[in-house]
Amino acid sequence: MTKGNWLQLKFPSRPENVAVARLAAAALASQLDFTLPEMEEIKVAVSEAVSNCVLHAYPQGEGPVEMEMRVGEEGLFITVTDKGQGILDVNRAREPTFTTSRDPDHLGLGFTFMENFMDDLEVESAPGRGTQVRMRKKPADVYSKAAGEEPS
Ligand SMILES: Nc1ncnc2c1ncn2[C@@H]1O[C@H](COP(=O)(O)OP(=O)(O)OP(=O)(O)O)[C@@H](O)[C@H]1O
Ligand SMILES: [Mg+2]
Repeated sequence: MTKGNWLQLKFPSRPENVAVARLAAAALASQLDFTLPEMEEIKVAVSEAVSNCVLHAYPQGEGPVEMEMRVGEEGLFITVTDKGQGILDVNRAREPTFTTSRDPDHLGLGFTFMENFMDDLEVESAPGRGTQVRMRKKPADVYSKAAGEEPS
């Protein structure tokens, strides 16, 4: 795997950029030994994190979103940061089905997907200052380990 590789993206919190972020994450993730289902999980987690910036961070309009990705010893690290309104109670926001959205399409499951699909999820938020979501996922890599091979 291409340890040490990294990528930074900065874009406005517009719905059309969710796909941009998802594709960029998939492109970097494809340099590791992820299975196709794992790749799908990464894409969903990134989509959820960036959608949250689009939907919740800037209620007055749009603002900047930064995504950083890094390939390390422990897999793929992804950080999504906004400078928006922040989250008053992060623990509560992370509970399944908690949502502040009045749209019935939003089930309050974004953080639940991120948590289940990634190995680690950390959420740091300061009301009025913004939110940072940090995620990590390592390829399960069962086959090459079983065969005693080093990942390429
Ligand atoms: N970047 C953010 N800025 C401000 N608030 C956020 C941010 N991300 C999440 N939240 C808050 O946390 C709540 C829970 O987020 P979560 O993604 O789990 O559910 P949702 O976005 O409401 O619905 P869903 O993701 O299922 O469409 C949101 O309703 C919102 O109040
Ligand atoms: Mg969400």
